[in-house]
Amino acid sequence: MLDIPTAARVVQLSAKQLFMMFPTPMFTGMLPDVGLCDRIEKRLREVQKSGKGFPSPGGKILAYMTPDDIQTLPEMKGLVEVIMAESSSILDFYAIKRDSHYITNMWANIANPNRRHNFHIHPNCLLSGLVYIKVPKNCGATIFASPRIHSKNIEPTYFKKNEFNADIFSIPPEKGRMLIWPSHVPHAVEQGTADEAEDRIVVAFNVMIRGLIDQPTARLVLS
Ligand SMILES: [Fe+2]
Repeated sequence: MLDIPTAARVVQLSAKQLFMMFPTPMFTGMLPDVGLCDRIEKRLREVQKSGKGFPSPGGKILAYMTPDDIQTLPEMKGLVEVIMAESSSILDFYAIKRDSHYITNMWANIANPNRRHNFHIHPNCLLSGLVYIKVPKNCGATIFASPRIHSKNIEPTYFKKNEFNADIFSIPPEKGRMLIWPSHVPHAVEQGTADEAEDRIVVAFNVMIRGLIDQPTARLVLS
């Protein structure tokens, strides 16, 4: 038999590399002035009291939604400015050609802190986001599901979870924290275990671009 020296029996590649293909970004940060949350809450309560918006479905558990154009309220100006600036940076990060961008819809959910909300996506926009305005301790977090869920038709058991096998992503809710993600990412609100004396308040928004998408066979004018 041929005697192969130990050093020659290496079974690993040399110059190994790992590339992350097609990553899904989540952008987050804190409002420069967290006190803005209190001023926004005050205005949202006025909207709620005025009778505008959408009351709790079924009426049992609080789940009030404001009208979806609250970006036009003067009290939202400071928040809108942050969203527009951050969205601009993200669209540049993606290198998206456009004439401009804008908030298509903005609304607030004032809900029981333990109320769960099913997975959904936000259609007709490129970016979606939220700002936590009021977050009772142990209220439900907004959670995000892998957009590659169909790759999980065979699902092994894992001896530990990591970013390669995770199917859920979440960031603990924090007053003044903004999240912005690609709109196609499914998300939900998990059930909380909070004292129900306080409401969970979140402002959500969608962002779209204006301009000509000048691609042969896929031309589209967004105005
Ligand atoms: Fe949503």
